[in-house]
Amino acid sequence: MTEELRTDAMHDPPSSKGQEVQRTFNKITDYYDRMNRLMTLGRHAAWCRDVAVSTKVPSGGSMLDVATGTGVIALAALEKYPNSTIHAVDFSERMLTEAASKPGASAIMWQHADANDLPFGDESFDAVTHGYLLRNVDDVERVLEEQYRVLKPGGRVVILETCPPRGLLRYPVTLGVRVLIPLLGQMVARDRESYAYLQKSTLGFMTPQEVVAILRRVGFASIAWKKKFFGTHMIISAQKAVAFGESR
Ligand SMILES: C[S@@+](CC[C@H](N)C(=O)[O-])C[C@H]1O[C@@H](n2cnc3c(N)ncnc32)[C@H](O)[C@@H]1O
Repeated sequence: MTEELRTDAMHDPPSSKGQEVQRTFNKITDYYDRMNRLMTLGRHAAWCRDVAVSTKVPSGGSMLDVATGTGVIALAALEKYPNSTIHAVDFSERMLTEAASKPGASAIMWQHADANDLPFGDESFDAVTHGYLLRNVDDVERVLEEQYRVLKPGGRVVILETCPPRGLLRYPVTLGVRVLIPLLGQMVARDRESYAYLQKSTLGFMTPQEVVAILRRVGFASIAWKKKFFGTHMIISAQKAVAFGESR
């Protein structure tokens, strides 16, 4: 694998929802980081650092960031674990090109790939991360199974995702998300439609408990989660079981 962007790893074309998602992210690449900073009041970078720290990649270990987008988690991981090998994949070529152009990015192996069909062997990585991937896929369980496959026994998955707000804040926050995200999309990116999709997928995604239930079915253990940002974001970590007689 080399430092340049590899584009030969997509086997099958994405599903029709996948193609729609791919088109959306190819379209909003130029505004992605700026919009993210605005929509999260600058918190996104700190959550990505939190995700990177939670992977606990051992010295000289390896990590895969799936749906890396503009590479914020992968770059945070590189800063935290400079001696590790970091791979990052996404199926949007434009997002990957943007990621690969950032300072320090040449130390990361960027690759064009679909989260449903990762181009890596079984038990390749000490950790897998992803931010805002699950709400964009057809089958969350299949995507998590694929991550389980490429993780070494004892390896960790760390997930950053949106979740529907609950409790007292549910109605004001829901209203805020419904109005503000498409409005910002219109004002900053001149693209209300793409951000209307993001608003819908944010509010329509699963609760932490629902994601945890799927992680358990897939085989993950030691699952922990916390909510962020008025209950609209969650960070979940889980570990692949260690085979009997092995230790980590
Ligand atoms: C909202 S962005 C998140 C980027 C980054 N993880 C972050 O936290 O800023 C979602 C990314 O997921 C990618 N994506 C969605 N579905 C995917 C799939 N099936 N395979 C690979 N990438 C996917 C999109 O292309 C996009 O770059």
